Amino acid sequence: MSAFGMARMFARELLLRREQPRGPTPGQQLGAAGILAAMEDGGEVDGRTAAGYLYHSARISQVLAGRRRCVDIGCGNGTQLLQVAALNPDVQFCGVDASPLMIERGTVQAARLGLTNIDWAVDDFDGLLAHGRGQYDAAICTMTLHDLADTAALATALRAMAACAGHDGAVYIEDFARLKSPASIDFFVDLNAPAVPDRFSALYRCSLGAAFTFSELKEAVERHLPQASLHHTFLVPFLVVVKSADGPLPVATRRRLAQMRAGLQAAARRDLDDLRRFFALGGLGNDPFA
Ligand SMILES: C[S@@+](CC[C@H](N)C(=O)[O-])C[C@H]1O[C@@H](n2cnc3c(N)ncnc32)[C@H](O)[C@@H]1O
Repeated sequence: MSAFGMARMFARELLLRREQPRGPTPGQQLGAAGILAAMEDGGEVDGRTAAGYLYHSARISQVLAGRRRCVDIGCGNGTQLLQVAALNPDVQFCGVDASPLMIERGTVQAARLGLTNIDWAVDDFDGLLAHGRGQYDAAICTMTLHDLADTAALATALRAMAACAGHDGAVYIEDFARLKSPASIDFFVDLNAPAVPDRFSALYRCSLGAAFTFSELKEAVERHLPQASLHHTFLVPFLVVVKSADGPLPVATRRRLAQMRAGLQAAARRDLDDLRRFFALGGLGNDPFA
């Protein structure tokens, strides 16, 4: 990562007052088939987002300690969920997505990996708000909020998460917050893009442009998920995590996570350590890899 490019991005984001307008969501721009194609083009668990998947799998494992039934809403083709489920074999998961295509792909992948602790269902936040209460003791949602139509849908999503997790339940959400400048979006997309930008780069650009602003996310979390705390990457809320309190990570899981970090390619390991540093500097403690 170029230190100069990073410094310019920080300066832009800190100095600009005005937010850029929200762009179309990935669902609106690419449709489920387009999102899936992009995910399979560069968003695989061992692809160029490997560091992000592992960081969030570790963080999710911390909030899941001692829980039994977890719903993952907007699970997509299950890339994050499959890694989380493998790390937490004592938890029974339900992967839920509005797209039947995604659920079909997740089911196939889980069978291929021999994972038996995931059920799959086509549903959405409205459905889970209506009938998810009492069925789970944990709810997670990764990289999905930016796909919601508006702040009313964001409120419904957080209320559904709260209903599914229940009063003392575990919650983990991660997403982007909207950057103020299109040049900052270019900076992050270019950081991650291959020489010839692929469909994943297009999805990444669209997702960053469709993200809610940090203030929209903060207001919605304070209102609808008061049991959770909101964290963001240092100085610029490029990535956001909303989570309930951590439980004690089992020794075997901590050891497995350290092995997985060691097994990453050098560039992905650097990305993971950057993520750890940027969230730690933003105030998120209890690093699962420390
Ligand atoms: C970028 S994918 C994220 C997939 C996965 N959670 C991950 O981290 O890899 C976003 C997913 O959210 C799903 N989605 C969008 N709106 C939804 C809603 N209202 N209810 C359920 N799923 C939704 C989309 O179908 C898509 O599969």
